Amino acid sequence: MKKDSIKRTVLVALALCVVCSILVSTAVVVLRPQQDENRRIEQLKNILIAAGLYTQDSEVIGRYDETIRRIMIKLSSGQKAEDEVVAAGLSPERYDIKEAAQKTSSSESINAVDDLAGIKRRPKWVNVYLIVDAGQVRGVVLPVFGKGLWSTMYGFIALDIDLKTVSGFSFYEHGETPGLGGEVDNPRWKSLWPGKLLYDESNDYRLKVIKGKVDASKPEQKLYMVDGLSGATLTTRGVDNLLRYWLGEKGYAPFFARLRQGEFNEQ
Ligand SMILES: Cc1cc2nc3c(=O)[nH]c(=O)nc-3n(C[C@H](O)[C@H](O)[C@H](O)COP(=O)(O)O)c2cc1C
Repeated sequence: MKKDSIKRTVLVALALCVVCSILVSTAVVVLRPQQDENRRIEQLKNILIAAGLYTQDSEVIGRYDETIRRIMIKLSSGQKAEDEVVAAGLSPERYDIKEAAQKTSSSESINAVDDLAGIKRRPKWVNVYLIVDAGQVRGVVLPVFGKGLWSTMYGFIALDIDLKTVSGFSFYEHGETPGLGGEVDNPRWKSLWPGKLLYDESNDYRLKVIKGKVDASKPEQKLYMVDGLSGATLTTRGVDNLLRYWLGEKGYAPFFARLRQGEFNEQ
């Protein structure tokens, strides 16, 4: 075959394509476990960040193992649901709420009137994380998600064990505009959350992200309210609504009731 013939050129190009596709598919298969593990570690890091326990990347696994106890619960009842999730063919350790919410078998629809978070469906089960210190449960980290302006925002909120005081709040995934709604992951804004109260003395839900700035001279604002993001009223409203949903009666209330009764105290 002539060196510069069309046939030879086509054959060489084809051979190159085959070799390259084999290389790429092998890389995908070989690297998948590593990618899954990296995703898992990233999630542990997000939990530690919300809990205010993150120090540095190299310490994530050790710190998580020392301070966090994972519990898989059924949202509708607040009960432990590890076995149920395994029976459904899912791995509690690698459970992904985003994937679970998309599949009919692992999700449930939300009545439009209740759907403050604008998510239509939610996973049947979620992992919640107890913050444990010297054998005592000191707080809890809960996954929350809901619609912003452009995207569904995924985060974790950490509460003290009184289940009334925010100890941290952090989004790890969203598609809001950088500099506007994207400021939900600005550390300065995140630092406004610890210490805010969810409920007043009558147990009415009071936490609110307001338009504009909190007037700290007004006790009511200082206790329950957080500055809105300027130029991003719609994202801000989304944050306010998703918290109202998840922290309310239709969200984590059944789990809170069981946690208060000491159902998760044993190691
Ligand atoms: C390109 C572009 C991107 C925007 N991104 C966001 C956003 O991520 N979140 C948001 O709430 N508003 C965003 N807005 C602004 C909204 O359209 C709306 O004007 C704003 O939420 C009103 O907030 P304000 O009352 O604080 O000005 C964006 C506007 C433009 C033109």
